[in-house]
Amino acid sequence: MKKLIVGNWKMNLDVSQSSLYVAKLADKIQMRRDVEVVLCPSLLALQPLSLQVNHRQFKLGAQNCYWRDSGAFTGEVAASMLRGLAQYVLVGHSERRHVFGETDRDIRFKVEAVLRNSMWPILCVGETSFDRSEGDTVHVLNDQVVSGLLNVGSDEISEVVIAYEPVWAIGADKPATTEQAAEAVDIIRTQVSQLYGKSAGQSIRILYGGSVNQSNTKSFLQTKGIDGLLIGGASLNAEQFSEITNLAYEITKGET
Ligand code: PGA
Repeated sequence: MKKLIVGNWKMNLDVSQSSLYVAKLADKIQMRRDVEVVLCPSLLALQPLSLQVNHRQFKLGAQNCYWRDSGAFTGEVAASMLRGLAQYVLVGHSERRHVFGETDRDIRFKVEAVLRNSMWPILCVGETSFDRSEGDTVHVLNDQVVSGLLNVGSDEISEVVIAYEPVWAIGADKPATTEQAAEAVDIIRTQVSQLYGKSAGQSIRILYGGSVNQSNTKSFLQTKGIDGLLIGGASLNAEQFSEITNLAYEITKGET
């Protein structure tokens, strides 16, 4: 299956730095049919990058959006404004949930808005270390999946990507074990199956994210149920990020 490698630059790289960085990546990353590479720069850099990138080499993603199409929402950017610039939008990243207080309601409206505007939402879910220590991981994941998908129809579920990102693993140099990731992905697939049927549960694309780097890429991508990676820190390093995409390619080659 095609692997999806998503780089989340977070609040790093201004417009000119983004352009230079993409030029560097373009030299390093080969176009591979079986690996889809998505770059999520700052919102400001999206527009210039959409003109710069070869869209067969890189897809673009936004890190956030607002769900209304227009109106008095100072400081926000609507999903409808991203249409044509981005193919993917991260929704409900743990930093949005925990630093900016996004609620399940915000997140489900955003998922719906992204779909309405013909882009792929990447719905991020994951438990905190407290949830895990309390034995609440299953509940938290199920709640976030059910709630995030509440407005998604059965004809739209195939256009959703889910990213499992344990909050304690993000930016922490402390990745989940592949067993923990496999278990969480299985919980998510089971929940999607319950909501939309078995084949939706099997085919929905699920990413792992949290302290991914070139040394753990292979083991995550070889873990059953994981279709790709959501990468923060390591996506800002051209050597690391290109190596990660090469490893993804090697794995897809091995599968065929
Ligand atoms: P990290 O971030 O790779 O730096 O842990 C992942 C993310 O926040 O998506």
